[in-house]
Amino acid sequence: MAQAPVLLTVGELATRGGVAVSALHYYESRGLIQSQRSGGNQRRYSKATLRRVAFIRAAQQLGVGLAEIGEALACLPAQRTPTKADWARLSTGWRAQIDARIAALQALRDRLDGCIGCGCLSLKACALYNPQDACAAQGSGAQRLLPPTAVAGQRRRRQA
Ligand code: FES
Repeated sequence: MAQAPVLLTVGELATRGGVAVSALHYYESRGLIQSQRSGGNQRRYSKATLRRVAFIRAAQQLGVGLAEIGEALACLPAQRTPTKADWARLSTGWRAQIDARIAALQALRDRLDGCIGCGCLSLKACALYNPQDACAAQGSGAQRLLPPTAVAGQRRRRQA
């Protein structure tokens, strides 16, 4: 006889997932996770929900918004435990985004001790890399920190 799937209470999911119960309720209200009701009308979660919660937290720590996270999770099957292939499909869709964030973090790490093209002209290097705030012509913000895609987007908007 098939064993009944192990279901977690909201407290167990919160403890193992490292989030507050209120956060789980919020995720559920946004459709990011699903629960079923016990005989006593209490929420019960599949163990696979732990992976969704871990994904939500990791993405949030990367600065990704819940709407975007919801779009990504929407490609996972709701009625069965997502497989490796399901998660691979999700991560393929996110690869470019994650690569862009890695590039932005690397630029921040590698350029923060030099001129970042912000307009302050406060470092000796600014005279070389941003004479008379030449970067302002490209757009607002730290032009030497933004990834090329962001700079190109700003330029297009200015020309539009
Ligand atoms: S660091 Fe601000 S303009 Fe160079």
